[in-house]
Amino acid sequence: MRVFSSHKELLKSVDSNKQVGLVPTMGSLHKGHLSLVERALSENEKVIVTIYVNPTQFNDISDLKKYPRNLESDLDKLRDYKNIFIYSPTDEDLYEEVVSKNYDLENLDKILEGKYRPGHFNGVATIVEKLFDIFNPNNAYFGEKDFQQLSVIKTMVKKLSISVNIISCETIREADGLAMSSRNKHMTSEERLIAGKINKFMIKVKEIYKNKKIDKVPISIIDELDSLKNCKLEYFEIENLSKHSSSLTDEGDRIFIACWIGKTRIIDNLALR
Ligand code: PAJ
Repeated sequence: MRVFSSHKELLKSVDSNKQVGLVPTMGSLHKGHLSLVERALSENEKVIVTIYVNPTQFNDISDLKKYPRNLESDLDKLRDYKNIFIYSPTDEDLYEEVVSKNYDLENLDKILEGKYRPGHFNGVATIVEKLFDIFNPNNAYFGEKDFQQLSVIKTMVKKLSISVNIISCETIREADGLAMSSRNKHMTSEERLIAGKINKFMIKVKEIYKNKKIDKVPISIIDELDSLKNCKLEYFEIENLSKHSSSLTDEGDRIFIACWIGKTRIIDNLALR
């Protein structure tokens, strides 16, 4: 494992003839992130893991300030992997001016997360395009945990004709079904128990969908979830993202959820097919 804060220095150390996999992260690494790193290592000769809390994708400044940062413990988790290069830059190494570009994401940035986090996906696309431009990876790895983000990146890559394979990786969950997330550590133990129920609600909708192809989550389920203690629902919707971007192939309906458990915002999704 080698750690760089300058992309120019990192590039000097990676043999450009090797097949390179890129795993962009914002750090506070957990097993979900590590599953991406391991998949990338199994499919590439060299893997670049980026650890950077990207300011342009935060629509809420207090969220940016409280986002967990644990570089030393992140490096401990990566130390035993061979053939990985860590890029942990300052803003200056990436941005001349810390602002987003504007992308044509069709309707993708107007629904679900896009509606609740205006500007978020332009910020994500900005940083990911920069990383692709700098490192020119053969393959780049993203989690289905953030399925709309994955779709935004696929759309950006197609529209800008960037030569990279986008590899989607399945969501890694805790024993009770809660999707692993860097934000989970903010929850109290009582909130954590409630968060564990979210996946069960998605499975419940999937069961109903299997029997009768519904296009909306039944109101009784929405009410039941919304009435959990400390839970404030933002959306709980069935969507097919390929209907919102002509660059996507049809992967079928999914259920998408965003809710606050206390002061922690949780997002998750599940394929209904
Ligand atoms: P971050 O939230 O750190 O996630 C980095 C990558 O790990 C993303 O592709 C995300 O989907 C994936 N991931 C997170 N939790 C996961 C889980 N439980 N199972 C599988 N994969 C999981 O997403 C971002 O950072 C940023 O927006 C980024 C793409 C790095 C751009 O700044």
